Amino acid sequence: MKIDVNRRTFMGAVTAGSAALFSRRAAGDETSAPAMLGGTAVRREPFPTWPVADTRETEALARVVRSGHWFRGSGEEVNRFEAEYGKLTGARHCLATANGTSALITALQAIGVGPGDEVIVPPYTFIATVNVVLLAHALPVFVDTDVETLQIDARKIEAAITERTRAIVPVHLGGAAADLDTILASARARNIPVVEDACQAHLGEWKGRKVGTYGRAGCFSFQASKNLNAGEGGAVLSDDGELIEACYAFHNNSRGRKTSGYDFSYRSAGANLRLTEFQAAVLMAQMTRLEAQARAREENAAYLTRLLKDVPGITTARMYEGCTRNAYHLYMFRYDAGQFAGLPRAAFLKALAAEGVPASGGYAPLNKEPFLEATLTGRGYRAIYSAAQIAELEERNRCPKNDRLCDEAVWLTQNMLLGSRGDMDQIAEAIRKIQRHAHRLATA
Ligand SMILES: Cc1ncc(COP(=O)(O)O)c(C=O)c1O
Repeated sequence: MKIDVNRRTFMGAVTAGSAALFSRRAAGDETSAPAMLGGTAVRREPFPTWPVADTRETEALARVVRSGHWFRGSGEEVNRFEAEYGKLTGARHCLATANGTSALITALQAIGVGPGDEVIVPPYTFIATVNVVLLAHALPVFVDTDVETLQIDARKIEAAITERTRAIVPVHLGGAAADLDTILASARARNIPVVEDACQAHLGEWKGRKVGTYGRAGCFSFQASKNLNAGEGGAVLSDDGELIEACYAFHNNSRGRKTSGYDFSYRSAGANLRLTEFQAAVLMAQMTRLEAQARAREENAAYLTRLLKDVPGITTARMYEGCTRNAYHLYMFRYDAGQFAGLPRAAFLKALAAEGVPASGGYAPLNKEPFLEATLTGRGYRAIYSAAQIAELEERNRCPKNDRLCDEAVWLTQNMLLGSRGDMDQIAEAIRKIQRHAHRLATA
């Protein structure tokens, strides 16, 4: 077994006069206790922090402050960002929005999702994917998860389609592509628009083309945790000029692109979901690092996957063959407690954090959220749908594979992939160390 040793670790060990101890630790000393039980943590330094910023961001913000043009109606920053992000993704059109949720709301509204409609969604995603369906008073139809990839099981979409299906919203979870070939084939056969939720998948690719450009629309988030970040922000991509104009009007309180300041004629119902000039300027600065950061994440993730292949009970998320680039917003794997002396996942996560590797257990099953049941049986929905319709939906919405996955998944966040190979060695070593001491940890 080999772990990377940085200079600080080396000098610390030598100055303490403990070269022998050092070499035992570097070799994965079997006697070193888990940090949870008083041993020395595998890692003490923090992982790279997020966001990354320098004078590019401060100068961009100062430029907007000085310009006096702070909203998209008077400035050029949002227009410039839309042109750049469109170019980067290869989409014909890009509309910036206030955040990823508003990008999804805008796309669904422009497509015409509303009361009486069904929208196919995964149960393993951030709540926004489902909230936007509920805000349209449509029914979320959950399609179970492919546990090997942690993506929506595209093979099950066709069976979930009915004459009421108005849209399919696959999520490219964690930055890896959902199975777009199968999704698009199912959608085309029934002429149903696909709205890709690519909120976690900046620069992710399917068969060499950026995700978010395959569906009728693709939605992105630039919220603080995302790989492209302005604190908040979002975008809708589409090759359909008419759809993007409908999106523009919706996100601009019913006013089309050519509506001038004092022209109070309206195109549709809408809201104010505009990005500010400040956010666009920060996004332009952040984009200067995006490709290099994406490459670092990919290289570290590939290396970590090689290390974890040899750890029984750790199964890293498989990528579909068509996924030619994973954006690695999350690094995801499944944890089998059976290979760790029955140590429950929650205890594994605690032990991992104690070794200096923070990790999360990820999402809970969205289809089982109590608030969802309350919404579907509440006053608004009762006015639209019969009790029998809702009961039938709840029956269809069972996702047993996803239920199990939610007990087994483990995530590392994208910033942890921005460091060195030595960081990856330490992540793998922390997991192996917990496995070596799993029995003691399980019975402690
Ligand atoms: C899959 C997914 N969809 C939608 C969103 C919503 O984006 P935002 O937080 O920018 O509104 C997020 C953000 O976390 C997300 O991860």
